[in-house]
Amino acid sequence: MKNYKIAVLPGDGTGPEVVVEGKKVLEAATKTFGFKLEFETFDFGGDRYLKTGEVLPDTAVDDLKKFDAIFLGAIGHPDVKPGILEKGILLRLRFELDQYINLRPVKLYPGVETPLKDKGPEHIDYVVVRENSGGLYTGTGGISMKNTPHEVAVQSMVYNRFQVERCLRYAFEYTKKRNKNNTLALCGKTNVLTYVYDLWERAFHEIGAKDYPAIKREYYHVDATCMWMVKNPEWFDVIVTGNMFGDIITDLGAITQGGMGIAAGGNINPEGVSMFEPIGGSAPKYTGKNIINPLAAISCGSMMLDHLGETEAALAIEKSIMNVTANKIKSLAAGRMGYSTSEVGDMVAKGI
Ligand code: IPM
Ligand code: MN
Repeated sequence: MKNYKIAVLPGDGTGPEVVVEGKKVLEAATKTFGFKLEFETFDFGGDRYLKTGEVLPDTAVDDLKKFDAIFLGAIGHPDVKPGILEKGILLRLRFELDQYINLRPVKLYPGVETPLKDKGPEHIDYVVVRENSGGLYTGTGGISMKNTPHEVAVQSMVYNRFQVERCLRYAFEYTKKRNKNNTLALCGKTNVLTYVYDLWERAFHEIGAKDYPAIKREYYHVDATCMWMVKNPEWFDVIVTGNMFGDIITDLGAITQGGMGIAAGGNINPEGVSMFEPIGGSAPKYTGKNIINPLAAISCGSMMLDHLGETEAALAIEKSIMNVTANKIKSLAAGRMGYSTSEVGDMVAKGI
């Protein structure tokens, strides 16, 4: 029987609560589909940092490399200055584990309300492939003459050909495997960022023409992408973009699929260890109340199983989630689901 080692990082705020439900559903899937998951929990997060002064132990990255995947709750603590945990835990793990893809499906499940007028599940079903290792996020830059009237701050969008190509190849492969409309859209800003997105655009067409002639290529500026994600989301199949644009457009995508209670993502290293995390944050004001929606975390579990090759189990979880959104819960919002966090986990687990 296949046995996968999973590192669990419950993290901060409501992270631990939603992780419990994610694990509950994963355990149910192991029983039905005949494989094993061995969980080991790590306490990285705000509470640990406040107690010990250490954001991430130096051994963490090497320890995590021994796992088949990482299952993360949420990082972010109201008593810790913004940036410390995000950069010190989340971004550090993404970079050091070279999780160079951030995969973010935007899918409206049945029964879920979208703010987009006259749009339903048949219109909102695409995937954003966000580059996750470079761009503005590498922090190249600095500040000089700080706190003077002449201070200068620079933060550069840096991409090399290697980073761009590996991301584009992943996106083409993903589009092919998804086999929906076989259309890959590059989201850039070639009219202003004439160096960085020129590189992206040239590489996009070169790789596409040479190795993926059956995949239709489209190009949208990032501002226009936002407009069409609202007006005509059905145009999209797979969107590929750089780190910063990907961060921004996937929050827009998330709200069109019902919000942070449902949006899941994967930080993927196709050759290494990947980490699955709900897009929503730690939601401190709902912590410990058993009212937060665990579906995003549960959905991450499905993405994780798909990544590990347990495709059937992954699909079964997704189907069970859809049954719950279509027939059970009243709203995705915390406290308005008509059920508690653990009851939602129970229903999804039972449906497998
Ligand atoms: C995300 C988050 C992170 C990001 C933050 C918390 C560093 O917004 O996963 O989208 O910007 O990537
Ligand atoms: Mn974000």
